[in-house]
Amino acid sequence: MMVHQIRVADTGERFEAEPDETVLEAALRQQIQLPHACTLGGCGTCRVKINQGAVTYREFPTGLTEEEHAAGYALACQAVATSDLDLTQSRRLAPCSPSSRQTLAVKSVRPLGHDVTHLVLELPEATGLIFRAGQYANVLVPGAGHRSFSMASKPHARLIDFHIRQINGGQFTSGILQQLRPGDPIEVELPLGNFGYHEDDYRPILILATGTGVAPIKSMIESLLDDADCPPMTLYWGARTRQDLYLHDEIASWATRLSEFRYVPVLSRADSDWEGRRGYVQDAALQDLGDELAEHAIYLCGSPDMIAQAKPSLLARQASIHHIYTEGFTHQSRPSS
Ligand code: FES
Repeated sequence: MMVHQIRVADTGERFEAEPDETVLEAALRQQIQLPHACTLGGCGTCRVKINQGAVTYREFPTGLTEEEHAAGYALACQAVATSDLDLTQSRRLAPCSPSSRQTLAVKSVRPLGHDVTHLVLELPEATGLIFRAGQYANVLVPGAGHRSFSMASKPHARLIDFHIRQINGGQFTSGILQQLRPGDPIEVELPLGNFGYHEDDYRPILILATGTGVAPIKSMIESLLDDADCPPMTLYWGARTRQDLYLHDEIASWATRLSEFRYVPVLSRADSDWEGRRGYVQDAALQDLGDELAEHAIYLCGSPDMIAQAKPSLLARQASIHHIYTEGFTHQSRPSS
């Protein structure tokens, strides 16, 4: 069993992988930072492009399609090197601050919908923190690890918004979070993740989001408002019922500040009086855009099930594997949240 040499083309860093460890485990063991979140093969955050070499999986991960695998993409948290590797970890994204632990102050906590809480944290004046629209933060929960939530506000502001879905019985979302008061300190690690707007990918944008998966999308779109260079954009937002569309009016208002913006809410368990689209976001988008998908940059964010179902369907309709960007919210569906 051989040790393999791995090179990260973006940074020139090199590390070794033992035969029994994943690429991510090997990197972290040698203090090489590769983006990751769930470490379970579900969210897609750790996706890398294998430029040279080969990997295998003990179990093929749900967050990767066979088509992506065939095109040379791999999930570092599950992939085991079977040869030396040369890989690219990130596509071209705007720069951001290195992640760090910070104690921030709670600015406000209020309901945003029937089961979503709007948490606003305030950065200290001198922090100079830069995050990319689309990134997330880990909220550190004493004695219980961390919970990950995407930033919902646009970068370069002292206040950072989060949309947090309550999990019944969840230690953080139904307990600690509800007891926070303005001025309380909260420890977070940020910015994290490599999901975000690819400004070099100048194609019409198609976004499929479910539930609070719209939070990082809000951050991305707000940073594009009034930008004459923003490509045409279509957002399908999936939820179960009308009351789950906690940002409906605000999203609809973006149309006045983007040159071409189409918003399509899609409900999977709509009441009989709902006049909009029904079913799943991916099915609605496929019905509407079948022949045009090859030309789009596609952003998928929210439920890992939606992403797992959408990707092969989109690829089967000629969407380009190199222009699909995903962020699965495995971290928001953990029962312990
Ligand atoms: S960190 Fe690898 S798929 Fe989530």
